[in-house]
This record gives sequence, structure tokens and C-alpha cells, in this order.
Amino acid sequence: MEFKVIAKCPITRARVSRMVLAHGATMLPTFMPVATQAAIKGLSPEQVESLGVTLILNNTYHLNLRPGIEILKEANGAHSFEGWKHNMLTDSGGFQLVSLSKFTTITEEGALFLNPFSTGEPTMLTPEESISIQHAIGADIIMQLDDVVPSLQQGPRVGEAMERSIRWLDRCIQYHESSGKKDTQNLFAIVQGGLDPDLRNRCLDGMLERKDRVAGYAIGGLSGGEEKDIFWKIIKQCADKLPEDRPRYAMGIGFAEDLLVCVALGVDMADCVFPTRTARFGVALTHTGPVNLKLAKHAKDFSPIDKECPCPTCKSGASRAFLNHIVTHETTAAHALTVHNIVFQAQVMGRARDAIISGVFPDYLRSFFAGYFGNRG
Ligand code: GUN
Ligand code: ZN
Repeated sequence: MEFKVIAKCPITRARVSRMVLAHGATMLPTFMPVATQAAIKGLSPEQVESLGVTLILNNTYHLNLRPGIEILKEANGAHSFEGWKHNMLTDSGGFQLVSLSKFTTITEEGALFLNPFSTGEPTMLTPEESISIQHAIGADIIMQLDDVVPSLQQGPRVGEAMERSIRWLDRCIQYHESSGKKDTQNLFAIVQGGLDPDLRNRCLDGMLERKDRVAGYAIGGLSGGEEKDIFWKIIKQCADKLPEDRPRYAMGIGFAEDLLVCVALGVDMADCVFPTRTARFGVALTHTGPVNLKLAKHAKDFSPIDKECPCPTCKSGASRAFLNHIVTHETTAAHALTVHNIVFQAQVMGRARDAIISGVFPDYLRSFFAGYFGNRG
């Protein structure tokens, strides 16, 4: 991986960098849309590409269940299987420890998952297995398997999960280094430790000792209903301590306001299902806040979602009234809004990069927040 910081905000910790991976360059900070089941729901790879997206997220756990590793190997990896030419990051499956916790048991060896889609055998996901699956997928950035607990979890389990995440990082590093895939696939560590600054600090110390053996760092275990000021403090603590010369990735963050605060604190990458999922529920994201097109008040509004939006939906002239009308016909509206929301996220981050480069990032923050929260109609 090539990672170069090219501009810094003199007031906040925001920065612009260029990251070059095996499938091209991606400018940071960036938001990564999530393609859980190979594709981004409702869009072809060409459509995603045409929106200017150069980095998407796939999920190891889901791809391992369907289509499965044998098919991915035979297809020569997920890029060619999906027809995606640009960069891809895979999450390790660690998050499923939380999202599928009803189906999992954690041991030092790994996580035992009951298969929620069938009555088949339980599957053991070890750190080595997670990396091996991510090698078969062929993602440009791969994530360590981490032991994730819900962000509001308290008590000894939080520290245990943090310590185990460091031990699992070592197993991921070992497996990855002996695989011969190190030149094309980049392993990221994931900082855990819940909402406890001491645990976070110990995790940071442990993971920074492995700096020469990881390509980047993620901040995990957040965005699970914690108070915003606590969330910000943990992001700041981690971003402050993580090295300048490694990308920093905040996992599961997708609200525009959170993205911009994270960027101001020094975060380079983020992902979340929110923009694409909320699109499927009929919500368009705009610079004056989210707009629920299911509401009757849009039925006679013949203006586009956003007349300045460059996305194919807004450029085609689709009105709010039309979108309100079709929003009950699942696929057409879901497609139109998914496209718009991906472009919105890209624009929020693209404008952040432009503002950092031209030295006006604080002005951008002020005008974004004034527009987003100041003008609810
Ligand atoms: N997605 C959101 N949060 C997390 C996390 O803490 N770990 C992993 N692996 N994925 C995540
Ligand atoms: Zn649009």
C-alpha cells in the first residue's frame, strides 16, 4: 500500500491523503458504501463505478456463507466474481459477534456460529480462518478478526474482549505474513476497549507495538447507542494516538454529522449500511437533513430531491412527488434513492477534502452544520 498525507487542516486534525492499493488510488477521507452480499443492493458494479466510488466494503462472514469460499476461489476472488474493478475492503466477521450474538459462542480459539440460514453444522471462525477467507476473497484491505462486544457493554467482558483482540491480531499477522499475500492485501488492526479510556489506551499501546506489521488501524466497538460526547472522546483519544503515517478507519459510522466530526478528529475512512439502508426505507439524504419521501407532504412537490445534486436521480428530473408515488414500489424507488444517497455521502466527504486542501475546512464544517440542522422543513 502507498499512503501519503497531502494536506492538513491547521486548526483541526483533518487531513487529506492518497491511498494506492492493488486496484487503484482512493482519496481520503472517504466513505465506503457497504455491499454485504457481494453487490450494493439494487446497483450494478458499473453503476457504483459511475458514481465515482473507488472503495467498497464487503463482508467476510456473509460471503463465506453465500456463495462460499470454493466458488469465490474458482472465480478468482470477489473482484472478478462481482465484476468490481476498484478497491475493496472486507470486514473480518468480528462484527457478527454482536449482530448475530444469539447465534455465537466465543472461545479463545475463535467464534462458533450457528448457521442462521440453515440447520447445517455450526461453523468456527478463527482469526486464521477469517484471514484465509479474506485471502480467497482477495480484498485490497483485510481486517483482523476482533472480539467485539456491544458498545454499551460494561464489566470484565470489555477488557477480556480487548485483550483477546490483541492476541487475535497476532494470530492474524502470523497467518497473513506466512501466506505470501502481503504485497497485494493489507491487514488492518482494530482498536477495541469499549467506552473505557484506560482499556482503549492499553489496546492502543498493544496494537502500536505491532505497527510495522499492520498497514492501517480501525477504531471499532462504537456506534452502538452510546452518547455522542463519549463517542467523540473515544474517537479523539484513538485518532490522536494512532500513527500519522497509517490510515485511520472508524467502523460503522455513516451519519453525515458523525463523519465530519470524525474527519475533524483525524479519521480517514468510514463505512455504514445507513445511507443505503435508509434509501430502501424511502429516505433521501440532503444538505438540509434527511427527507422522508414516504410522507404525504411530498405528494405535490414537483421539485427534485436536491436541485444542485449531480446524481443520476436528481439529474433525470425525478420529482419528490414522483418519488413519493413510486416509493411503495420497492425496487425502482430503492434504486433511485440508493444512487442519490451514495452520491450525497461522496459529496460530503469530497467537499471535506476540497476544503482541507484549500485551507477552509472549519468554514465548511460551519456551513454544513448550519444547513443540515438549521433549516428543517
Ligand atoms: N463494524 C462496526 N464496528 C465493528 C467492530 O468493532 N469490529 C468489526 N470487525 N466490524 C465492525
Ligand atoms: Zn441526487
